[in-house]
Amino acid sequence: MTDFEGQSILVTGAAGAIGSATARLFAERGAQVMLADVNGERLDAVVDLLGGIGAIDGVVSDLSQSEGAQKAVAATVERWGRIDGLFNNAGIAGAVKPVHELGDDEFDHVIATNLRSLFLTQKHAARAMIEADTPGAIVNMGSSMGGWDVLSGGAAYVTSKHGAIGLTKAAALDLGPYGIRVNAVCPGVIETTLGVPGLDKGDRQSAVAAFAERIPTRRIGQPVDVAEVVVFLASKAAAHISGAAWLIDGGQTLQSFSNGPADGVYPLLSSDPRR
Ligand SMILES: NC(=O)c1ccc[n+]([C@@H]2O[C@H](COP(=O)([O-])OP(=O)(O)OC[C@H]3O[C@@H](n4cnc5c(N)ncnc54)[C@H](O)[C@@H]3O)[C@@H](O)[C@H]2O)c1
Repeated sequence: MTDFEGQSILVTGAAGAIGSATARLFAERGAQVMLADVNGERLDAVVDLLGGIGAIDGVVSDLSQSEGAQKAVAATVERWGRIDGLFNNAGIAGAVKPVHELGDDEFDHVIATNLRSLFLTQKHAARAMIEADTPGAIVNMGSSMGGWDVLSGGAAYVTSKHGAIGLTKAAALDLGPYGIRVNAVCPGVIETTLGVPGLDKGDRQSAVAAFAERIPTRRIGQPVDVAEVVVFLASKAAAHISGAAWLIDGGQTLQSFSNGPADGVYPLLSSDPRR
C-alpha cells in the first residue's frame, strides 16, 4: 500500500534535512522523485547522494515566486511524464523578534517562503493533476510549535504555519472532487539546523538533550520520523484521509501550562516515573 512504482513525486525544500530524507524514502519505495530547492549547490549534492537509490532529478527554483513554482511542476511533468504527489516542504525560520519590532520585509519574506510557496506550488501541481486526470496527493508542511502552538518572538513563522493548515483544509475541500487529497504534517522539534538553533556549532549532544528533556517521549524527532508520515499520507493506504493536520511531535504540544516543566507550580504529572 505504500508502493509508489510508476508514480512521480515533487519534493520541495529537498536540499534540506526533512526534504532530502523524504525524497530518499519515496525513491526507496519506487517513486520517481523531482527535488526542488532554491539552493543549487546543496541540491546538486543531494541529487548526487540519492542518485544511486532510484530515479532522482533536481530543479533549482525559488518557490515563493509564481514562475519558480510553475518551473518545478513543469520540470516534474517533463522529466517523468506525470505528477502524482507533492510534498510542499520548503521553508525558513525567519527573524525572531517581538511583533512590534518585526520588520515589514522580515514578515513578508517568511510568509512568501513558508505560505505563498505552498499556495503557488500546490496550485500548479493540482492543475497538472486535474489536466491529466491523475488522482493525486499533496502534503503541506505545517509545524507543531508554529502551526498548532505559538512561539514567542515567532509571529511571522507562526502566522505562516497556521496559514499552511488553513490552506490545507481549504484545498482539501476544493480538490477532493478531482480525486486529489490534501493533508498537512506538523512536526515538533526535529534534529536539523532549522529546528535546533546552533546545532551545527558547539555541543550538539547537549543542544539535543535540552530539547529531548522537554518532550514526553524524551527523544528529539528525526527527519525520517517526518518522512515516514509524509510517505504514508501520500500513499494509497491513506486513501480516505484528506484535510487532516497530523502532529509528529512525541507529544510535545501536550506540555501545556498545567503539566509542563513549571518548577513545582503544579505537580509534574508527566515527569519521568523511572527517576
Ligand atoms: N526542523 C524542525 O524542527 C521543523 C519543525 C516543524 C516544521 N519544520 C518545517 O520543515 C521544513 C523543512 O525544514 P528543515 O528542518 O528540513 O530545514 P532545512 O533548512 O534543512 O530545509 C529547508 C529547505 O528549504 C529550502 N528553501 C528555503 N526557501 C526556499 C524557496 N524560496 N524556494 C525553494 N526552496 C527553499 C532551503 O534552501 C532548504 O534546503 C520547513 O518548512 C520547516 O519550517 C521543521
